[in-house]
Amino acid sequence: MTGPLKVGIAGLGTVGSGVLKLLRDHNRELQERLGRQIVVTAISARSRSKDRGLDLSSYRWLETPAAVASSPDVDVFVELIGGENGAPKQAVETALRAGKPVVTANKALLAQHGVGLAALAERNNVALKFEAAVAGGIPVIKALRESLLSNRITRVSGILNGTCNYILSLMQSEGRAFAEVLAEAQRAGYAEADPTFDIGGFDTAHKLAILTSLAFGTEMSLKDVYIEGITGIQAADIEAAEDLGYRIKLLGVAQRTESGIEQRVHPTMVPKQSAIAAVNGVTNCVAIDTDYAGSLTLVGPGAGSKATASSVVSDIVDIARGDKSPAFVLPAAKLEPYRQAQLRAHEGGYYVRLSVFDKYGAFAKIATRMAEQKVSLDSIVQRRPRTGRPGRARSSPIDSGTPVPVIMITHDTTEAAIRTALERIEADGQIEGRPQMIRIESI
Ligand SMILES: NC(=O)c1ccc[n+]([C@@H]2O[C@H](COP(=O)([O-])OP(=O)(O)OC[C@H]3O[C@@H](n4cnc5c(N)ncnc54)[C@H](OP(=O)(O)O)[C@@H]3O)[C@@H](O)[C@H]2O)c1
Repeated sequence: MTGPLKVGIAGLGTVGSGVLKLLRDHNRELQERLGRQIVVTAISARSRSKDRGLDLSSYRWLETPAAVASSPDVDVFVELIGGENGAPKQAVETALRAGKPVVTANKALLAQHGVGLAALAERNNVALKFEAAVAGGIPVIKALRESLLSNRITRVSGILNGTCNYILSLMQSEGRAFAEVLAEAQRAGYAEADPTFDIGGFDTAHKLAILTSLAFGTEMSLKDVYIEGITGIQAADIEAAEDLGYRIKLLGVAQRTESGIEQRVHPTMVPKQSAIAAVNGVTNCVAIDTDYAGSLTLVGPGAGSKATASSVVSDIVDIARGDKSPAFVLPAAKLEPYRQAQLRAHEGGYYVRLSVFDKYGAFAKIATRMAEQKVSLDSIVQRRPRTGRPGRARSSPIDSGTPVPVIMITHDTTEAAIRTALERIEADGQIEGRPQMIRIESI
C-alpha cells in the first residue's frame, strides 16, 4: 500500500468544514477503495476560536493559507477560501511553485487566473483540480475532462446558480413579485445579504467561462461573457411564459458558431416539457451537446456543504491516484485564443412584452417596425386590462390611450434585427417604458 496522502486545507467555512467531515466520516471506505489513506495534516481559517461543529483539536492549525501551502507535511493544498486575489491566490501559487497539487472550489480565482495557474501547475508537473467550482456537487468537470474527452462539444448550457433558480421557481409556482421572493430567499439563507453577484448573473458568468475553456479548448475570457441578470423579470413575464408553454430560467450558454464562441448569461424561455424546465429550487443543471455521445443533461445540487465537499474529495482522490493531467484538458500553451462571436449575430426566437398605449394605429406601427427588420411573429397577444365594478368586469374602451400589455413571440431571427426593431418601436413613442425581451432556447 502507498503511504498516506497528506492534505492541508485553508478555509473551513461551508465547504471546508464539509470536507473535514466527509474525510472523517468516510475515512475507512476511502482507504479501502483507494488503497491509500487520506490524512488532513494542517488547517487554517481566519478565526481559530470559531465553532465549526467539529472537533479540530487533532489537526495542526497554521496561521495563514500560505503556511499551509508551504508546510513540509502537506502533499496536497486545498483552497476553500474564495475570492479572485489576495491570500487564496498567493497560497495556491505557493503550493504549485513548491510542486504540490492544488484542489480549489474557487470559481472567481479560476475564471480570472485559471490559465496562468494551469500553466504554473504544468511547469511544476502537478495537478490543479476544481470539480466543486462549477455546479457544486454535479461532476460536470469530470464529464468534460474525462467521460466526453473523445467528443467534439458544440454547446454547454445550464442553470448554474441556485439562488436565481430558487427565485424564478418561486415566482413561477406562487405568482409572486421578484422583490418579495428575493427577500424570502434572503431570510431562508438562499440569497446573500448583497445578492448582486448571484442575481446580476456574475456568478453564472464565472462558471460559464470555466466550462467554455474546458469544452472548447480555448483560453478563458470572462470579460467577453454577455451578462443579463434576473432583476428585470416580472410576474407578468412568468405568467405569460406559462400560458405560452415556457418556463423562465437564468441560463449560461456557451456555443460554437461560425463567427466564434458565444458566451451568454441571461433569462431564457425554455419549453415547459424540456428537462431543464423541470429543474426547480436551488438545484443546478448542465446540458452538454456532443457529436458522438449526443446530448446529456446532468442535474443535481449546485451548492451546499455536503455536495460540494463530495466534489472536492473527488479531486483529492484523483490526486491520490496520481492524476497530473492538464487542468483544462489541453496543456495551457495549446489553448486557443478565445474568439468571441458577435451576440448581434445570435439567432433564435424571442419573447417580447410591450406596454402599448391603446391608440388606433399603434399595433400597425409596431408590426411595421418588426416587418422592416424581417422579424416574423409566431404569436401576438394583447392582454387588455379589466375595468369596471367587481363581478361586471369589462374591457377598457379601445383608443383610451391606456397602456396595454402586448406579448409577442417571434420566429427565429437575429439579435441585431430584434434589437433594432425594438429601438425603433421605443423611439416611435407607442409604448410606455422599455420593452422586455427574453431569448427563447429550444433545449
Ligand atoms: N458554499 C457553497 O455551496 C459553494 C459551492 C461551490 C463552490 N464554493 C466555493 O468554495 C469556496 C469557499 O466557499 P464557502 O461557502 O465555504 O465560504 P465560507 O463559508 O465563507 O468560508 C470561507 C472560509 O475561508 C476562511 N477565510 C477567509 N479569509 C481567509 C484568509 N484571509 N485566510 C484564511 N482563511 C480565510 C474563513 O475563515 P473563518 O471561518 O474563520 O471566517 C472561512 O472558514 C469559495 O470559493 C466558493 O465560491 C462554495
